[in-house]
Amino acid sequence: MDDRELLRRANEARANAYAPYSGFPVGAALLCDDGTVYTGVNVENGVNGLSLCAERVALFKAISEGRHGFTKLAVSCASDHCRPCGACRQVLHEHAPEMEVLMGNPEGSFVRTTVQELLPDAFSL
Ligand code: THU
Repeated sequence: MDDRELLRRANEARANAYAPYSGFPVGAALLCDDGTVYTGVNVENGVNGLSLCAERVALFKAISEGRHGFTKLAVSCASDHCRPCGACRQVLHEHAPEMEVLMGNPEGSFVRTTVQELLPDAFSL
């Protein structure tokens, strides 16, 4: 699974986003250390505060299927190179601080970073 293919999977998933309130669909694809890929999309809700971001949906799907080792996460949205929100950074840090993150767009370009770079000096219990 190379970087471009993982980003392609994030883009493909993006079509399934439920984002009627923001009109801002996001897709994510999470590569696990056994080679499996879990995708996620943002799922919004009419009640404020109940929406979930694409990154957390992908991560929670993977964890709920018994995956615990994560190699890489690709995220895609229409703004220039999708930046994970602060809440997602904290959640990702708990499970995969060393993980690479590809912040991409639908045209297939991306900026490479890591969870640790996105959330330096993070809180942890
Ligand atoms: N969103 C994500 O799903 N991931 C990100 O990295 C940034 C923001 C969602 C949350 C909300 O549904 C919409 O994008 C607009 O904020």
